[in-house]
Amino acid sequence: MTHIRWDESLSVSVAEIDEQHRRLFALADTLRAMREACLAPHEMLAAVEEFCDYTRHHFATEERYMDAYEYAGMDAHIQEHMRCSLRAVDFLGQCLADDPQLCEDFPAFLKSWLEAHVRGTDMGLGAYLNRRGVA
Ligand SMILES: [Fe+2]
Ligand SMILES: [Fe+2]
Repeated sequence: MTHIRWDESLSVSVAEIDEQHRRLFALADTLRAMREACLAPHEMLAAVEEFCDYTRHHFATEERYMDAYEYAGMDAHIQEHMRCSLRAVDFLGQCLADDPQLCEDFPAFLKSWLEAHVRGTDMGLGAYLNRRGVA
């Protein structure tokens, strides 16, 4: 799989969100590299926990913006966040169990989810916030 990397084409034009996305993509890429190096699930545990923690922090940031600026698309946006969070928790559970049959390719899911979510859903939020003077 190619690297999971943030670049300017993924900017949503809100500095705080872009900065968090950069970190989120970097954490996801660490998981990709670990999977490609065939690490055992338990060896990935700390990195998966860090990814889950940071994801929670990032989603809470966006949800705070949506709430503060009364964003009409908030419910649908939160549903998408939940889809990612549930997959992350499943993967964390597999790592905790040190399941040698770990077959879910979570990094591949993340790559497509992150790119699609940021390019579509988060950019819509960014444009809305820009119109309200947030940058
Ligand atoms: Fe989002
Ligand atoms: Fe986001």
